[in-house]
Amino acid sequence: MSRVRSGALVFYGATGDLAFKKIFPALQRMVKTGVLDVPVVGMGRGGSLEELQARARDSVETHGGGADPVAFPKLMGLLRYVKGEYTEPATFDRLRRELGDAAQPLHYMAIPQSLFEVVIGQLARSGCGASARLVLEKPFGTDLASARRLNAILHRCFGEDAIFRIDHYLGKDAVQNLVFFRFANTFLEPIWNRRYVENVQITMAEPFGIEGRGAFYDKTGALRDVVQNHLFQVLANVAMEPPSGRDIETIRDEKVRVLKGISSLDPGRVVRGQFRGFLDEPGVAPGSTTETFVALELAVESWRWDGVPFYIRAGKMLPTSCTEVVVKLRRPPAITGVHLVSNHVRFQVGPAFQIALGATVREPEHEEGHALELIASHVHEGAETDPYAALLGDALRGETFRFARQDYVEEAWRIVDPVLGGDSPIVYEPGTWGPAGAQAMVPGGWAAP
Ligand code: BG6
Repeated sequence: MSRVRSGALVFYGATGDLAFKKIFPALQRMVKTGVLDVPVVGMGRGGSLEELQARARDSVETHGGGADPVAFPKLMGLLRYVKGEYTEPATFDRLRRELGDAAQPLHYMAIPQSLFEVVIGQLARSGCGASARLVLEKPFGTDLASARRLNAILHRCFGEDAIFRIDHYLGKDAVQNLVFFRFANTFLEPIWNRRYVENVQITMAEPFGIEGRGAFYDKTGALRDVVQNHLFQVLANVAMEPPSGRDIETIRDEKVRVLKGISSLDPGRVVRGQFRGFLDEPGVAPGSTTETFVALELAVESWRWDGVPFYIRAGKMLPTSCTEVVVKLRRPPAITGVHLVSNHVRFQVGPAFQIALGATVREPEHEEGHALELIASHVHEGAETDPYAALLGDALRGETFRFARQDYVEEAWRIVDPVLGGDSPIVYEPGTWGPAGAQAMVPGGWAAP
């Protein structure tokens, strides 16, 4: 498909939660930066255009830093509303008229996955899906079989190069910078392998619980919610080979290659936990065995990473807020009896963005090493660009690079499939690092975030 800019943006679920929290603020930012100047058609089952406008104002005031005096009225000028049931052909006939001759309209599904099939059927029938683009929110299936089914449904109407699967981690500057930093600095490549790297540790710690999302989270759990998607993307950026050639698609090829080198997870190397109090959350089924914490070990089978363990842990109600990768290097031998600690490279992805090199210097007064970090780059919390605005801007231009491709999604599900669900998780106290077994998983311990 050629890189024609989409002539309209249609979003389904205009009156929903995602639109309120993320999409209207992103749209306002896109108008402000000149990325969005085409009609924006909200689709929903109730209300009117005026009500949608009021909700948009409320949304940018609550989540978008306030209504911008120039961008917000401009956005309201672009906003349309098509009301109707998604099961009704008449809804899509109205949309067809609204779209007119807009080139390659972008259809953004901010709706539950269970509605995708019916909407895609309607897009095909009404002609609204002809030469159009499709944006989807995770989850892309709930396991390998359902992901394959979903992809088959999407491909009934859309080619793979017209499908944009949003993983908002790919819209984070910090996640893109991780790849950039690796390949823009010659000094890293000689040590980025099994000879120098002892292990790789990826932590995603959140100090809060499930924030009223009990029903969603109970069906999802930590593995599906953040590991199979966000943290595997981070892992792929750390482990991938340098892309070759000028075609940006080779970066997505290299990431898939990393996942292909990972065996499906061994249940013996996975620790699942549940914070005390989860069962009392509204929407959580009595006796639920959903994990709110997971720690796991995996191996990337390749010449570069043979024998290097990769550890991932993610959880709710942990002691701090931090997403980061620590690439721990092998410890140098002692120098004249002075015991030395390992060096490392640390990429903090959130809440702030930081790249740091862990080194050891000599303490003048005590003949021993002193560990410190050289901060290579630091962006304060909140100073990053909005991932949604960045990703929707890419999708409008037809740039697929920062989206998850079908083969990537299916490989990621293949890896986690054997450990989805399973035995009762181990209960951990809020404010701790999860079950003891998770802490003991890494020889020498996890690097403290
Ligand atoms: C979402 C998950 O995809 O990512 C949430 O559903 C999680 O449970 C969130 O809290 C984390 O995103 P971020 O950008 O705050 O790291």
